[in-house]
Amino acid sequence: MDQLNQYIEEHKQRFLDELFELIRIPSISAKPENKADMIKMAGLLRDSLLEAGADEAAVMETSGQPVVFGSKLVGPDLPTVLIYGHYDVQPVEPLELWDSEPFEPEIRDGKIWARGADDDKGQLFMHVKAFEFMVNTGELPCNVKFMIEGEEEVGSSSLKEFCRKNQELLKADIILVSDTTMIATDTPSITVGLRGLSYMEVELTGPGRDLHSGLFGGAVANPVNVLCKMIASLTNDKNEITIPGFYDDVLVLSQEERDEMAKAPFDTEAYKKEIEVDALDGEKGYTTLERTGIRPSLDVNGIWGGYTEEGAKTILPSKAFAKISMRLVPHQNSTDIDKLFENHFRSIAPEGVRVDVRSLHNGQGYVSPTDTIAYQAASKAMEQTFNQRPIPTRSGGSIPIISDFEEVLGIKTILMGFGLESDAIHSPNENYPLEHFYKGIETIPYFFKYYAELSK
Ligand code: BES
Ligand code: MN
Ligand code: MN
Repeated sequence: MDQLNQYIEEHKQRFLDELFELIRIPSISAKPENKADMIKMAGLLRDSLLEAGADEAAVMETSGQPVVFGSKLVGPDLPTVLIYGHYDVQPVEPLELWDSEPFEPEIRDGKIWARGADDDKGQLFMHVKAFEFMVNTGELPCNVKFMIEGEEEVGSSSLKEFCRKNQELLKADIILVSDTTMIATDTPSITVGLRGLSYMEVELTGPGRDLHSGLFGGAVANPVNVLCKMIASLTNDKNEITIPGFYDDVLVLSQEERDEMAKAPFDTEAYKKEIEVDALDGEKGYTTLERTGIRPSLDVNGIWGGYTEEGAKTILPSKAFAKISMRLVPHQNSTDIDKLFENHFRSIAPEGVRVDVRSLHNGQGYVSPTDTIAYQAASKAMEQTFNQRPIPTRSGGSIPIISDFEEVLGIKTILMGFGLESDAIHSPNENYPLEHFYKGIETIPYFFKYYAELSK
């Protein structure tokens, strides 16, 4: 690894220029009008895998967005590392809140500002460049495969099928992913838990048309009023979720495990300041890290209905809608939770409104074991470049496909992410510190080195 730092130093501007080229393509998976961008993006990624030294790379069709697959096999007896990442990004609205164009990356204050700068183009590209380094310096100690998808932000619906159909192609010993956060620039961590997700949309219908709120108000159930009451009743005054059976399968951690978790540094004041709130709120009896790491949660993501344009229009609306997500923890099953939610939501609706419930996203949580050589390799790699042993943490976020990898391919995943919670992923002004981008490129080759050594 003698040449590692020198290699990064020599090529850092080019690495950035190449990343910017990827960022400039608005690969928003949620928007049909960006379909051509998805295809362009996949093609560009295939080319960058080939340029970085892959023996083969291809854009592979699925029933949804294409998957980019690439590989370099250096020895039949060497372990194989499968890198997973996603090239799709979240929508950028509200545009007026961005300080610079979301798809025109800019460097300010030592950070890259753009949609996808962190999630996941910036983090994914670190792997491409680390791979390039290993190939060019003859220091590739493992076989490498890349699987990069374009539907993560909309639920990875085609990827599970893709995995089923390509079991042989995707054979690997470990999956390595950078799509999560670490505690702080000077406090490395490895994500060992992800939450699952159950995402529902509800539609309430009252009268067959919007009614005059003077002529009818007070005599007819208003679906927006009703929806607010129903949603309010989904949590109690301790912020516990009231859906019967909801907590039945929640894995309860021992006091020792909770004490261990509490050792991770956490600055409440900085946390509040960063998200601009003056108080935190959540389930009674749990710390903030526990509330996001080991406890489930329920949130309204959006709610609408009736008249929302300028000025006043006196109506009693016919319909009301909400998108409600539940983040799940081991061993909650997202399809079971969907059913519990639907049954309960229907049962609490008063007469006079009709309820429709649809499931939009589903995903299981994931727990990554720490007593494996893969975890050890990741830990040693981060310790090497951060001069500090990383802390295992449980994240509140979800990457539903990770548990499918284990189920379909039988392969475990290491979540070695280099993002920060302050990177504003999914928000206006997403950013990624340059230092993290380069630190990632520096750390990844050490993962390969230690993983190969420990596999012997
Ligand atoms: N990279 C994130 C997930 C993440 C971020 C996990 C930080 C842990 C720490 C991923 O791209 C994401 O946004 N996932 C979605 C999943 C959903 C769209 C099915 C999420 O968590 O909302
Ligand atoms: Mn992501
Ligand atoms: Mn995301």
